[in-house]
Amino acid sequence: MTHHTAAELRRRLVEQLVADDVLHDPDVRRAAETVPREVFLGSAVYRPSSPPGVTVWTPVRHDDTPNDEWLSLTYQNKTWVTQVDGVLAEDADGPVTGGSPTSSSTLPGVVLWMLEQAGLARGRRVLVIGTGTGLSTAYACGVAGEECVTSVETDARAAERARKALGEAGYAPTLVTADGLAGCSDHAPYDIVIAFCSMRHIPYGLLQQVVPGGTFLVTLSGWGGAHGLVRLTVEDGDTAQGRFLPGYTSFMMARPHDHPPHGPVELLPGRERPSRIDPALLDDWTGRFVAQLAAPSAERLGAGAEQVLLDVATGSQARVRTADNGAGWTVSRRGPLDLWSSVEDAVTTWQSHGSPHVSEFSLTITPGAQRVWLGELGGSSWALPV
Ligand SMILES: C[S@@+](CC[C@H](N)C(=O)[O-])C[C@H]1O[C@@H](n2cnc3c(N)ncnc32)[C@H](O)[C@@H]1O
Repeated sequence: MTHHTAAELRRRLVEQLVADDVLHDPDVRRAAETVPREVFLGSAVYRPSSPPGVTVWTPVRHDDTPNDEWLSLTYQNKTWVTQVDGVLAEDADGPVTGGSPTSSSTLPGVVLWMLEQAGLARGRRVLVIGTGTGLSTAYACGVAGEECVTSVETDARAAERARKALGEAGYAPTLVTADGLAGCSDHAPYDIVIAFCSMRHIPYGLLQQVVPGGTFLVTLSGWGGAHGLVRLTVEDGDTAQGRFLPGYTSFMMARPHDHPPHGPVELLPGRERPSRIDPALLDDWTGRFVAQLAAPSAERLGAGAEQVLLDVATGSQARVRTADNGAGWTVSRRGPLDLWSSVEDAVTTWQSHGSPHVSEFSLTITPGAQRVWLGELGGSSWALPV
């Protein structure tokens, strides 16, 4: 077996990202060749496995793993989850069944591509939201200079771990433990804000911390489980607009934007009618995005041929599945909100435009509203739940 050093593995990863047309900027490339990801993975990560119906997160410890294997895992272009349901992998007693990731080291290819898309360059002041392991913050320091980087993390344990890793790797950005949805006014204004957690809408207070002409790069998500990475140009504090970008980028949601917790959901019988659309369209990246725009207060449960939408506030439900006779689909609706009619209308509109990818959509922010548009501004649009 050939043994590769961390520097060799980093160079290989960079070559792969250049060949894949992900990495172009020489300064971003230099940061990728320099930042030691092994320091940010720390002493343990979680490896997911999926027996039917559930994900099991098993801690993998550096101490129990041959160093070659650990380094090769480190330099895969892959996200490694470091915290599940608030428990860091290094603190876990054993496998965690069925939890949700709450912190991770994002795959380097996506982080580096996002830094390029945001136009990060030496001397540009950047706010990073969602420090996580500190890896993306280290790349940002490498590109912009550590004196230009402020990074905010809401989780105290993750923040402490990232602070240690950044110090060990030799970077000294400004680190803040707080809710990043409020930004960090002490160090504002910023030329660029990059969020590594997703948001249901853009907090105005955060937007106001960006200079006119500055860039805000964030994944818009929601309770329907859909995501779209949008690059906004800020005009002034309360006004911004921009396009969604190509690709399939998703991030865990900013914690205050996550759906309210609830117990097991009981699916109750409701009024039935045929569905105008195939529920499996919600498994499509953009189909799901459109459905989420149409029913922003609904949580999506189920998948494939059986989709369930649940409105947490009103208890409204829509359950859509293949019709009993196998011809078409049936929706069973219950409660005051007609969730599925809104979804049918939006999806039909999207289909009438040729079912384009989310990158054909744009977002406008004005003091009174935040709207996602399909195609041209002035065409079909949906308001975000602000
Ligand atoms: C996907 S991880 C970021 C990983 C980071 N890109 C890296 O490579 O290490 C998302 C992080 O956002 C943090 N987060 C969630 N909500 C937040 C909020 N409101 N403010 C700041 N950080 C938040 C989570 O605790 C988590 O550590």
